[in-house]
Amino acid sequence: MSSAFARRGICVASFLVGIRRSHCTVVGRAVVSPSQACYTQTRFSSSSGHPRGPYAAVHAEKGVAAALNATSLSVVKPILLEQEFSLTDRVALVSGANRGLGLEMALALVEAGARAVYCNDLSETPGGEFKAVKQYVDRMEGKGRIEYISADVRDQDAMWRIGETIGDREGRMDVCVAAAGVLKPDHDCLDYPAETFREVIDINVNGVFFTAQAAGRQMARFGNGGSIILIASMSGSITNIGQRWVSYNTSKSAVIQMARSLGCELAPQRIRVNSLSPGYIYTKLTGLFLDSQPGLLEKWSSQNPTGRLGRPDELRGVVTWLASDASTYCTGSDIIVDGGHRAW
Ligand SMILES: NC(=O)c1ccc[n+]([C@@H]2O[C@H](COP(=O)([O-])OP(=O)(O)OC[C@H]3O[C@@H](n4cnc5c(N)ncnc54)[C@H](O)[C@@H]3O)[C@@H](O)[C@H]2O)c1
Repeated sequence: MSSAFARRGICVASFLVGIRRSHCTVVGRAVVSPSQACYTQTRFSSSSGHPRGPYAAVHAEKGVAAALNATSLSVVKPILLEQEFSLTDRVALVSGANRGLGLEMALALVEAGARAVYCNDLSETPGGEFKAVKQYVDRMEGKGRIEYISADVRDQDAMWRIGETIGDREGRMDVCVAAAGVLKPDHDCLDYPAETFREVIDINVNGVFFTAQAAGRQMARFGNGGSIILIASMSGSITNIGQRWVSYNTSKSAVIQMARSLGCELAPQRIRVNSLSPGYIYTKLTGLFLDSQPGLLEKWSSQNPTGRLGRPDELRGVVTWLASDASTYCTGSDIIVDGGHRAW
């Protein structure tokens, strides 16, 4: 187990056991980290309804339980943003992060405190957007950094090797965002070319799977748990009005189901897996359509109650929440961020 996280767990547990022995019963493992505790059986006191057992031992420091267990009248420091949403010292792998939503989410992870975010993409060398963001991160207060690694997510061996290299270098792996994806031009479904269909499935499904494996194998290796976020789309659960995107829609549906399947299988190892499904957001992927088809921006904007497209930065909060300990009970879910598109 990675020393930093282990130290934090031991420190928290011994502190609580030391000062709150009268408030809780410690069963099972004597020393548990906050994340471990979420998966340890909870026992509830029949009289008060407040948790007993290891859940109480660790979670007495949070929320209403913290207020009820408070023993002194000293000033209270809020912890929700600074601790529960914090990614301090965490290590992440983000695919498709040379630009677009992947790069936006990589930056969010660093801002939330991640020590290192490894950004993977196809091109041999990072592009202009990545370089600008790297310089921005270098000037940012804090110790985080982003690194670029070139690889094709369709290459399972290459992706696993990337995971191993990060694990060897950093001694941990905590977060994965599988964002690499492609969207091909409209084409009638009945004569959709096999080659294009295969390519989309290969990148959007197989590539997402190999990325999740690469990070998940390291999370299992270090035993700290982790959070894997598969970037799907609202197109995984609806068909975009007026678009002939059968390959894309099929691939994104598979990603949503992949998150459920992986989430169930990996829960015992405290590795959470969720999919994140954005609605229309202007990036190079959607720009190919929006920039060449007059009136399309207005059409897509009118299809949701906010009356506009989303911005990449509007995924910063949700990706940080999913990556952090603020979402420890969320796994196998599809989180939709679409300006209400699917509510209509
Ligand atoms: N923009 C939207 O409206 C929107 C909506 C829903 C979901 N998404 C999804 O979000 C993700 C990011 O999309 P984006 O809008 O930022 O598009 P983008 O085209 O700007 O970014 C996608 C990145 O993936 C990389 N990539 C493609 N194939 C790859 C491969 N084989 N190996 C490694 N990297 C590869 C590309 O080089 C690119 O940098 C995609 O999975 C996309 O389907 C986008």
